[in-house]
Amino acid sequence: MSGMTSTTPRTQDLAGRTALVTGGSRGIGLAIATEFLSRGAAVTITGRKQDALDVAAADLGAHADPSRVLAIAGNTGDESARASAVTRTIEQFGSLDILINNTGVNPVFGPLMDADLGGVKKIFDTNVVAALGYVQQAYHGWMAEHGGSVINIASVAGLRSSGVISAYGASKAALIRLTEELAWQLGPKIRVNAVAPGIVKTAFASMLVDGREEQASAAYPMGRLGTPEDIAKMVGFLVSDDASWVTGETIRVDGGLLATGVI
Ligand SMILES: NC(=O)c1ccc[n+]([C@@H]2O[C@H](COP(=O)([O-])OP(=O)(O)OC[C@H]3O[C@@H](n4cnc5c(N)ncnc54)[C@H](OP(=O)(O)O)[C@@H]3O)[C@@H](O)[C@H]2O)c1
Repeated sequence: MSGMTSTTPRTQDLAGRTALVTGGSRGIGLAIATEFLSRGAAVTITGRKQDALDVAAADLGAHADPSRVLAIAGNTGDESARASAVTRTIEQFGSLDILINNTGVNPVFGPLMDADLGGVKKIFDTNVVAALGYVQQAYHGWMAEHGGSVINIASVAGLRSSGVISAYGASKAALIRLTEELAWQLGPKIRVNAVAPGIVKTAFASMLVDGREEQASAAYPMGRLGTPEDIAKMVGFLVSDDASWVTGETIRVDGGLLATGVI
C-alpha cells in the first residue's frame, strides 16, 4: 500500500496549462474541469444554458482559484461559438494546451429503420463534425505552434453494437476513427486520444438506467455504474506528461463491461 489517502495534496502537474472543456456545466465535463483545476490548470467550460454554466463556474471557483475559471455559453454545433470559445480562452489565459471534446447528444433511439434522419444528422453534426471543428480552431489558434493534447469523449457504444443507441454508437465509432486520423496528422506536437465510457450516472444516462440501476450494474464486472470522476481521472492521466507517448488511443473506462462481450 502506498499509504496515500484522499487527503493527500494533489500534484499541481497541470499548473500553467489551459484547458477548454466543452459541455462542462454538469456530468462528465464538470468532473473533468474539477480534476484539471485541482491539478493547477486554468479551465474554460462551455454549455448552451448560461444559468447552468454560471452555477457550475461558481461551484468550480469556490473550490479553486476563481481567476482560473471561465464559462462561455454557446452551442458546440455553432462554428462562431467554437471560434469565440477558443479565442476568448486564449485571450484570458494566454494559451490553449488541452481541448476536451466532451459534448455529445443522442436524440435517436431504437431500430435504425425507424430513425429520423434529421435526428441522425444532428448526432453526427454535434458528436463528430463539431468535435473536428473544435480541433481545427484549437490547432490554428494555438496548438499548431505550441503543441497540445486533445481528448475526445467517445463511448463503449462506439466500440460494440448496442442495438438500441445505434446511430449514436455509429457517431462515436466515427469519433474514435477521427481520433486516430488526427493523431497521425497532428503528431508529434499534438497528442489526440479518446476515452470510451460505459454507463456513467449523469442526466444524459438517466433514460438508460432510471429505475433499473441495480439490474444495469449487474452487467458490469465492477458491480456498479460509473461516476463522472471515474472518467475524469483517466482524462487527467491522458493529458498529463505521464502519457507523453500515448496518442491515437481509445481507452475504455467501463467497469469491465466490454470484457464480458456484451453491451
Ligand atoms: N453518461 C454516460 O453514460 C455516457 C456514456 C458514454 C459516453 N458519454 C459521453 O460523455 C459525454 C458527456 O456526457 P454526460 O453524461 O456528462 O452528459 P450530461 O450530464 O448531459 O452533460 C452534457 C453537458 O454538455 C452540454 N451540452 C449538451 N449539448 C450541447 C451543445 N450542443 N453545445 C454545448 N454544450 C452542450 C450540457 O449543457 P447544456 O445542456 O446547458 O448545453 C452539459 O454541460 C457525451 O459526449 C456522451 O456521449 C456519456
